[in-house]
Amino acid sequence: MRKVIDVDFGSAKYDELVELRYKVLLEPLGLKFLDSFRDNEMTYLHIACVDSLDEKIVGGLMMVPLNDKEIRMMQVAVDEKYQREGVGHQLVEYAVKKAKSAGFSKLVMHAMLSVVSFYEKLGFKPEGDIFDEGGITFVKMVKNI
Ligand SMILES: CC(C)(COP(=O)(O)OP(=O)(O)OC[C@H]1O[C@@H](n2cnc3c(N)ncnc32)[C@H](O)[C@@H]1OP(=O)(O)O)[C@@H](O)C(=O)NCCC(=O)NCCS
Repeated sequence: MRKVIDVDFGSAKYDELVELRYKVLLEPLGLKFLDSFRDNEMTYLHIACVDSLDEKIVGGLMMVPLNDKEIRMMQVAVDEKYQREGVGHQLVEYAVKKAKSAGFSKLVMHAMLSVVSFYEKLGFKPEGDIFDEGGITFVKMVKNI
């Protein structure tokens, strides 16, 4: 069994989440996790999916409010060993509920083109042109919540 939890910035669980995001998202691109990222992430909401038995993190994401109505979801990452087992779905569903109960009406994100269909299955729709960031092609995706 797995459950989704909120993670406090600066906690041991946050460090574990940083490690996972690094392994899944940055390392494959040859990028490093810089200490300056931590400062930026201080005010973000951090969410993790953990194994109910040993509390090990198997996936996570971050969210940051953009304005009163919109909140941005970022760095959705699931440990390679546990991909395609519903963890990503569980994380995003939790993020949607959390954003909605906090009063936001729109969830926005930048999806890599390779995972657009993952987000479409969760009710996100592409908006605007595709764009390039650091050599990776993204499209903005939105979900009214
Ligand atoms: C993309 C990612 C977050 C999906 O998480 P996951 O736990 O593997 O996905 P789930 O098992 O919850 O899948 C939910 C649905 O999306 C589909 N899906 C999962 N990964 C997919 C992918 N990479 N491309 C297309 N569809 C995908 C699944 O088949 C499933 O469909 P179904 O309900 O019809 O069976 C995860 O694979 C991952 O971390 N990938 C590497 C990092 C990444 O690309 N992050 C996204 C940054 S924008």
